[in-house]
Amino acid sequence: MENAIYLDEVDSTNSYIKRRLANNDGFADGCAVTARLQTAGRGRLGHDWAANEDMLPLSILFKDPPERENLTARVGLAVCESIESCYDGGTFDAAPVAGIKWANDIIIASRKVCGILCESVFFGDCANVIVGIGVNVSQSADFFETADLPHAASLLMLTGKVPERERLFENIVERVKFRAAMPFAECYGEYKRRVLNLGRQVKIISPIGERVAEAVDVASNGFLVCRDESGVFEVNSGEVSVRGIDGYL
Ligand code: BTN
Repeated sequence: MENAIYLDEVDSTNSYIKRRLANNDGFADGCAVTARLQTAGRGRLGHDWAANEDMLPLSILFKDPPERENLTARVGLAVCESIESCYDGGTFDAAPVAGIKWANDIIIASRKVCGILCESVFFGDCANVIVGIGVNVSQSADFFETADLPHAASLLMLTGKVPERERLFENIVERVKFRAAMPFAECYGEYKRRVLNLGRQVKIISPIGERVAEAVDVASNGFLVCRDESGVFEVNSGEVSVRGIDGYL
């Protein structure tokens, strides 16, 4: 694949792109990087992202992408479509159904199979967005138990079979670029259809505390619309984690 870098080992594919940007060495818009092993992956809200060679890490650079505030939602949609399409096309009997725990955790059969970390790096007027995606491809149940991640699972655990790693990487990159170039208005219906929180009671966890509400809609900008006894309000994904009140979803 053009504009793709295949590494053997890296600390974090997001950090790799950050370093390339800091060195100003011509890492271009749309370039992607993956590695066989990521040793110090980073997750949202300052968490670590546990991995072994059975996790597929990848990052893509977008220079000044349109509608930056909902790029992460469009990426989530693209990853769902990609995973499903890798199972279609005659390789396997039936494709799994991928949904989204708002804003962009990818869920199959109530378990998290992929996380997305979008980081912005500003140079003057240019907002570079590094889109980092980690797919749980073929880790065992033991891996998640040891890492204390009861809500996570791999594609192998859930479907008994996995797409070929390089094919999955290239398919995700292509679909993410496709959705990233598309206005959110054109992704909205399909994104909302996949958001699994709607109609559920959720706990919105932010640095200033927790709030319980019902998730009722997705706003036209991608924010989550919630309602509690004080009224209707919108939640932006930035600093917030949304959980079900009785569990993960
Ligand atoms: C989350 O917390 O759910 C987001 C996890 C994102 C992990 C991916 S793996 C590839 C890229 N490099 C990183 O260090 N993190 C992201």
